[in-house]
Amino acid sequence: MIEKVQFRYSDDITVVNEEQFDAHIRLYEGYVTNINKIDSILIHGDAQRDQSNTTFSWYRELKRGETFALDGVILHELYFENIGGRSPSPKTATIDLIEQDFGSVKYWKEDFIATAKASRGWAMLCFDQRSMRLRNISLDAHDVGNIAYSAPILVLDMYEHAYFLQYADKKVDYIDAFMKNINWTIVDGRLN
Ligand SMILES: [Fe+2]
Repeated sequence: MIEKVQFRYSDDITVVNEEQFDAHIRLYEGYVTNINKIDSILIHGDAQRDQSNTTFSWYRELKRGETFALDGVILHELYFENIGGRSPSPKTATIDLIEQDFGSVKYWKEDFIATAKASRGWAMLCFDQRSMRLRNISLDAHDVGNIAYSAPILVLDMYEHAYFLQYADKKVDYIDAFMKNINWTIVDGRLN
């Protein structure tokens, strides 16, 4: 059973207003409900394993829903945790590694913003354990575009539901506000 994490709006959160934040939290809670439903069917219910096939089957729907809902839960928790920071350019271990892997913080920021603009789902700074370096990656859905064996360090929700209530089509304003509200202490903790 997956328990939902309680997130509350505070004055430290400047990337979105309270109305946008609360609507987003309700959506996150829906993913928690859904992964628990899917897990329940897979463990105790009628998953119809004998009918499983690649074209259409209830078991295939459960497997697609399992990664979509669980990644939806995990990525939203990472996103809500890594907003609310007040220091735009701290000197942290993550920043040191960004300078090493991207050449400069300025270049990394340009690349992360471009990644966000290109993403239909999520933009993430990940530590790729195969090449032992940081990468900015673009996900078109919770479970589409992830690198296997990589760890998310910084997560930005680029689904329209994350900003449209407040920003409408001003996506770039939302990205800019996010870049100024990153909680680098949390980000650094993940890297460690
Ligand atoms: Fe979201």
